Amino acid sequence: MQWCSLIRPSTVRGCPVRRSNLKNSVGLLLFCLVLNVSAQERERDLRNFLGLGAPPDEAAAKLGEPLYKQNCAACHGENARGAQGPNLVRSPLVLHDEKGKEILPIVQNGRPAEGMPAFPKLSREEVYNIAEYIHLEIEKAANRGLYNNIYAQRRKQTSGNATKGKAFFAGHCVSCHSAEGDLNKIGAKYPEAATMQARFIWPASHASPTVRVTTKSGAKVEGTVLQLDDFEVKVRDAQGASHEWSRDDVAVEVEDKLDGHRALLPKYTDDDLHNVTAYLLELK
Ligand code: HEC
Ligand code: HEC
Repeated sequence: MQWCSLIRPSTVRGCPVRRSNLKNSVGLLLFCLVLNVSAQERERDLRNFLGLGAPPDEAAAKLGEPLYKQNCAACHGENARGAQGPNLVRSPLVLHDEKGKEILPIVQNGRPAEGMPAFPKLSREEVYNIAEYIHLEIEKAANRGLYNNIYAQRRKQTSGNATKGKAFFAGHCVSCHSAEGDLNKIGAKYPEAATMQARFIWPASHASPTVRVTTKSGAKVEGTVLQLDDFEVKVRDAQGASHEWSRDDVAVEVEDKLDGHRALLPKYTDDDLHNVTAYLLELK
C-alpha cells in the first residue's frame, strides 16, 4: 500500500490578483514613455497594461515540456487545451498563477476526488518548469486566437483498435484487474468513450479517503476521514470509534489506492489511450 503525506491545502484556495490595476498601468505607461525608458522595460509595461503579467521563462518552459507531456497531457491534452481534464490555457487559476505558486499546491496535493491526482514526487522546480510551459502555451493561444476546444469532437467516439488495446491491457492491467472478473461489464457501465477513458486513466472515487494519523508520541491510527481541514482531523477507526486531533499535533498520510494508475500515466501514448478505450467498451 502506498501512502503520501498531505500538504495543507490552504494555499490552494484564494485567488490573489496579480494583474496591476488598469489605472496604474496607464499611468505607468505614460510615465515610461515620458522618461523614454529602455525597450525592454517598455515591453514589460505594455504586457502589464494588456494584463499578460511577466513573460514566461522560455528556458524553464523547455524543461517543463517533456514533464508536462509525461504527467499531465493524458488528461489536460496536448498543449494543455483540455481533454477530460479541464483546459488549462483558459483556467482562471492558471491565468492568475505566477511562477507556479498557484499550480504547485494543486499538483502536490491533487484533488483526488475530482479526478486530479497528486504528484508528490515532482519537485518544486519541476512544477515551476511545467507551469512555465503552460504559461507559454497560453501566450501562443492568445497570439493565434486559438480559443476553440479541438478536443470537443473526440469525446463521443474512439478511433482505437480493440485488439491492440487488449494487448496493452494484458501487459499493464491484469495484475489488478480481469476482463472476465471485475471489469467484465465495464463497457455497459460506461458506454461513452470519453467517460470510459476518464474512468480508467484516473478512477477517482468520491468515497471518504482512508488516512493514517501519526501523533507526536508516535502512535498511529488508521481510519476513514470524517473531517480534514487546516485545523482539524477527525477519523473513524475500523472499530467504529472516532478520534479527533488538531492538525498541528499530528502528521496525516492519505492512502493512495490509485498508485498503480498514477504509475501508468507516463506510459500511455495517445494511441494506447484510444486502443484501451476501444477494448474496454467491448466488455459487456
Ligand atoms: C488523471 C487525469 C489528470 C492528470 C494526469 C492531471 N490532471 Fe490536472 N486536473 C484533472 C482534473 C479532472 C481537474 C479538475 C479538478 C476539479 O474539478 O477540481 C484538474 C485540475 C487541474 C488544475 C486546476 C485547474 C483549475 O482551473 O482549477 C491544474 C492547475 C492542473 N490540473 C494541473 C495539472 C498538471 C500540471 C498536471 C501534471 C503534473 C496535471 N494537472 C495532471 C485531471 C488531471
Ligand atoms: C496496481 C493495481 C492497478 C493497476 C495496475 C490498474 N488498476 Fe485499474 N483500478 C485499481 C483500483 C484499486 C481501482 C479502484 C479504485 C476504487 O475502487 O476506488 C481501479 C479502478 C479501475 C477502473 C474503474 C472501475 C469502475 O467500475 O469504475 C477501471 C476502468 C480501471 N481501473 C481500468 C484499468 C486499466 C485499463 C488498467 C491498465 C491500463 C488498470 N486499471 C490498471 C487498481 C489498478
